[in-house]
Amino acid sequence: MTKIVPNASCARIRDASLFSRIVSADTAAGLIRDGMVVGMSGFTRSGEAKAVPLALARRAKTDAVGITLITGASLGNDLDGLLADSGVIRRRLPFQSDPRLRDRINDGTVMYLDQHLSETVEHLRSGQFPAPDVAIIEAAAITEDGGIVPTTSVGNSAGFATQAQQVIVEINAFVPSALEGMHDIYIPADRPVRDPIALRTPQDRIGDSVIRVDRDRIVAIVLSDRHDSFAALGAGDDDTRAISEHIIDFLQREVARGALPKSLRPLQAGIGTIANSVLSGLAESPFSGMTMYSEVLQDSAFDLLDAGKLDFASASSITLSATRHADVMGRLAEYRDRLVLRPQEISNHPEIVRRLGIIAINTALEFDIYGNVNSTHVMGSHMMNGIGGSGDFARNSGLSIFVTKSVAKGGNITSLVPMVSHVDHTEHDVDVIVTELGLADLRGLAPRERARVIIDNCAHPDWRDSLSDYFKRACNRGGQTPHVLEEAFKWHCAFRDTGSMVKNMAISG
Ligand code: COA
Repeated sequence: MTKIVPNASCARIRDASLFSRIVSADTAAGLIRDGMVVGMSGFTRSGEAKAVPLALARRAKTDAVGITLITGASLGNDLDGLLADSGVIRRRLPFQSDPRLRDRINDGTVMYLDQHLSETVEHLRSGQFPAPDVAIIEAAAITEDGGIVPTTSVGNSAGFATQAQQVIVEINAFVPSALEGMHDIYIPADRPVRDPIALRTPQDRIGDSVIRVDRDRIVAIVLSDRHDSFAALGAGDDDTRAISEHIIDFLQREVARGALPKSLRPLQAGIGTIANSVLSGLAESPFSGMTMYSEVLQDSAFDLLDAGKLDFASASSITLSATRHADVMGRLAEYRDRLVLRPQEISNHPEIVRRLGIIAINTALEFDIYGNVNSTHVMGSHMMNGIGGSGDFARNSGLSIFVTKSVAKGGNITSLVPMVSHVDHTEHDVDVIVTELGLADLRGLAPRERARVIIDNCAHPDWRDSLSDYFKRACNRGGQTPHVLEEAFKWHCAFRDTGSMVKNMAISG
């Protein structure tokens, strides 16, 4: 192996016995062989290993190497795209959001396992998938006693590092040292007799601040200094502001009737422009003393922390836009007592989500008249990103809210359809649906009652009559959840054939 001579940037490796493992990224990438399972740090474009996967993509130009790549969630620095284009990714789990990898998934070249994010390491631990041969973990430092300090995400890093045969650590000199101490690494014991997870509030710390691995398994250390990619967040608009206002009005009513305290319950908010804008809207709300127990902290979480509305935020990653990145990273020490980053099996754990009674706000691509939600598949077949943690939270939360705009693609698609073309969240996991036009509170309603409220409150006016007509004719046929099966996907078919779901089309016509 080519060794790199230790220099000043090695100050972050405080265990001198590991200096001899410092190698170039190319040398470390050479440890990865065709057919291996590789577990890599990285969650919603933050905290991913950077130098080694880039070296692997370079190597793949001359040396065919295909792997199963498991991460926390999506990768930044264009890595999912580069690794897909270079043929390195054969199998990918549990989440991605890259347009080029998406194309490979949808043309069938890459096999994609779209998983609940809390479950991946549990499946590895219990032998349902092969454990990683190699783990590649980005770190802010290695402590005197060999502890690995994660960076801007924890994701599945602790699980990978403890389960993999070989561990490659990337020390990233770019990330602020102030990250050290912000992590809380708790790994559940093996089954069958496992203790309850002793976390009763988002603030609780139950683990170690570093990832502990046997030093002998650290086979290579690589130095890097690339920053995380910026989150590609679109600006909020009138629609997202309207969605946010509907949610605030609704939560105020819940507080007024005593169903929620003024500080609400811990909040979870999904990825993307809509959820980020909705959460930002809470800065103008009357609520205070709020907390978050979420998987990702986007700009909006820091808006709320800065506005003094949010007392504490727990998550598995920090993902920031270009406008907020330098500011937040520069002031990280200020947030120190109000932030904690955990493994995603803990940030998304059903036991804790249920215990805390979380208010979960996630985004739908489309929803149907009975409240089933599709968050992943465009027109029923083509993967967008993946379910991510939305299922972990929606099923187990105290209040499960789904948001979306009432139309997409310039008004050619209605987000409210007779039957969703793919189901991620069943009607049983959806309490409230919100579009810019209004909010449907579905709690305590039977399917026929849900349909009426959803159509009246959430449908775009261009589609409302057609949806009502469909529902009426479906009810004439009877059933607990009435449908006209031969028409249920007629609008999706119209979009496939013409590029538009045809406004005001009488569905029976
Ligand atoms: N049919 C087809 N495309 C649709 C659509 C529909 N019914 N509704 C929205 N879209 C398209 C939009 O046009 C946009 O396309 P573009 O990228 O070509 O512009 C894209 O979906 C994203 O929609 P946008 O309105 O910008 O919303 P967003 O950035 O908030 O993302 C999701 C919405 C659903 C894609 C995103 O939230 C997601 O991937 N969710 C699943 C994972 C998740 O919820 N994780 C939560 C825990 S972190």
